[in-house]
Amino acid sequence: MSKIKSLIWGVATAAAQTEGAYRTDGKGLSIWDVFTRKTHKIKDKSNAKVAINFYERYKEDIDIAVSIGLKVFRFSISWSRILPEGVGKINPKGIAFYNNVINYCHEKGITPWITTYHWDLPQKLQEKGGWTNREVINWYADYVTILRDHFGDRVKYWILINEGIVCMGGGYFLGVHAPGKIGIQNFLVSTHHLLLAQAKGFEVLKKKKNLKVGTAISCTKIEPYRNTSRDIKTAKRIDALMNRLFIEPHLGKGYPFQDLPILRRMSKYCIDGDEDKLKVDFDFWGIQTYTREVVKSTWYIPYLGALLVKPKYRNAETSIMGWETYPKGIPYFLNRFSKYDPKKPLWLTECGVALSEQEDDIKRIAYYREVISGMDSVLNEGINLKGILLWTLVDNFEWAEGYIPKFGIVSFDPKTLNRTWKKTAYWLKEYLSNIKL
Ligand code: GAL
Repeated sequence: MSKIKSLIWGVATAAAQTEGAYRTDGKGLSIWDVFTRKTHKIKDKSNAKVAINFYERYKEDIDIAVSIGLKVFRFSISWSRILPEGVGKINPKGIAFYNNVINYCHEKGITPWITTYHWDLPQKLQEKGGWTNREVINWYADYVTILRDHFGDRVKYWILINEGIVCMGGGYFLGVHAPGKIGIQNFLVSTHHLLLAQAKGFEVLKKKKNLKVGTAISCTKIEPYRNTSRDIKTAKRIDALMNRLFIEPHLGKGYPFQDLPILRRMSKYCIDGDEDKLKVDFDFWGIQTYTREVVKSTWYIPYLGALLVKPKYRNAETSIMGWETYPKGIPYFLNRFSKYDPKKPLWLTECGVALSEQEDDIKRIAYYREVISGMDSVLNEGINLKGILLWTLVDNFEWAEGYIPKFGIVSFDPKTLNRTWKKTAYWLKEYLSNIKL
């Protein structure tokens, strides 16, 4: 049997992008609920107060996933729905909601996966400094303990932090995502705490036997613009930032400061023993890759010394996100991760392309066809890829881009919120039923 047939297919979603119900049943505010009040920060001036109302329509969405033939339903937990203040008193209605989601998945024969943190810190914790406050490690550990104790009996697969680099880069360095902080200092200190928190979260979850615990890493292939030593060095620098910073400390290799010298400043936030605490032997790596960046050296960008060469200046095909569409990144990163440890299971925990409202969905099918061929080639090379989770099931709130990019294989009507299958959903159903034969 071709190995491609053994891959497990599922979908990935996230609370802040889908649930809505932002104040329903005792939920506290998250940093995204507050950030979206600054409407100029969101392209279409929208917010996620209602989003696609997964809170009330979860059954419908799970039914759709099941009927397409998908086997994994990955969703994230909204921390402030469980703990409205971020710490302390548990909201029983929050627990009940996720119990319902989990139980319904089991009832319908689709495996629930939990992401503990997909970027929506409780606002109450932000008011105490958020990820810049070292206390966040304990706040997060307490939160994860609650999740483990309530859901660990029925959920086996866990992802701790979703895409550290995007969360920290967007939220604490560039200020384009919640909580809108800027500056290298904010970025470095928060990154260190996020990684320590993740390591501690791993320990917490692994206290329960049989849980499979991993992390989801954003991966972006970085290439030099010119074949000059300066551009090559620049590409190495940016690669260290984008593709190594959130991995190597967990592998016990420390921060990659040799290739990215600004990371030396991290020592300011490290205390004795941190390096050891950062080591984690994850049960699997979750790989998420959407695009490629080409960089050239420049003196006027502080710390990084790099300029991105936009796809339009290099005749590359782009999506509505302005990203180069680059499914070739998938086999590239699967190879690269397998070099860390060839036996470690790998999952594509997100993978997709955004189209505009007007574009023909046939383009998405073409994209996934390329993804399949990339996965097929690495499986034939013996890489331990277990499965693929699509980003995403239903179009949703795409962070600072609002509702403009359409990543879903299902659309929704903004007025009625009714769901409609797109061509990709039909194609996928057919593909999945054929590979079972
Ligand atoms: C990922 C993120 C998702 C989704 C996707 C498409 O970085 O985890 O929440 O937004 O990108 O941009």
